[in-house]
Amino acid sequence: MVLKIENLYKKYIRKNEFNALDDVNLEVLEGEFICIVGKSGSGKSTLLNIISGILSPSSGKVLYDDKDITKLTDDEKSLFRNQKIGFIPQSTVTLSTLNVLDNICLPSFLGKNQIDKKGRGMYLLHELGIENLENSYPKELSGGELKRVTIARALMNEPKIILADEPTSDLDVQNTKYVLDILKKVSKEQNTTVILATHDMACLDYADKIYTMESGKITEGKNI
Ligand SMILES: Nc1ncnc2c1ncn2[C@@H]1O[C@H](COP(=O)(O)OP(=O)(O)OP(=O)(O)O)[C@@H](O)[C@H]1O
Ligand SMILES: [Mg+2]
Repeated sequence: MVLKIENLYKKYIRKNEFNALDDVNLEVLEGEFICIVGKSGSGKSTLLNIISGILSPSSGKVLYDDKDITKLTDDEKSLFRNQKIGFIPQSTVTLSTLNVLDNICLPSFLGKNQIDKKGRGMYLLHELGIENLENSYPKELSGGELKRVTIARALMNEPKIILADEPTSDLDVQNTKYVLDILKKVSKEQNTTVILATHDMACLDYADKIYTMESGKITEGKNI
């Protein structure tokens, strides 16, 4: 699936109106692993939230294989996101009443596919090195462990595209490498596109291409 972003704007009003995204144009090929760096407040999360369909732009297009996600209804967007996108949000969101395994399997409960859901959930728990936490609840986990639960959940439905917003922010050096290796492996083996926003320069070694955001504008290369 090719992602093409055309003339994307997001306006917010605080004291004055400003462009959190300011004419963003970007093309990401299937299987590409890209990193977006940029200072705090430069617009990285805003961009990922719009690419995922969670947030609507003020204007512009987000085309997946020429289909504009911004034109879909809310229900269509939710379905598209559930089937095609694995989202790792900046702030970890888990359901406190579900244990770790059920949190990871959650996206598959919403879909219709007949895979062995718990089996795949357990496989992902192992892949992320948290198999001992299967029956634990989110409030019993450290920040880094919670992050890995979020990552496993994002991989559950074998997405075509992974949007990762600061996926390594709570992790130590060893776990950072672990998580990045997994994202790279998924990208290579399943031809999954990865779009990763970060402050963490360790991520850049994994990128096929690096982009920089500054005041809502995106440029190619590491210009920070
Ligand atoms: N709902 C909102 N209303 C008004 N301004 C907002 C809103 N959401 C974000 N902003 C502003 O838009 C700008 C871009 O925010 P965004 O979260 O995309 O930055 P970021 O690059 O992800 O930063 P960080 O690295 O700190 O996560 C910031 O100035 C932020 O304060
Ligand atoms: Mg952010």
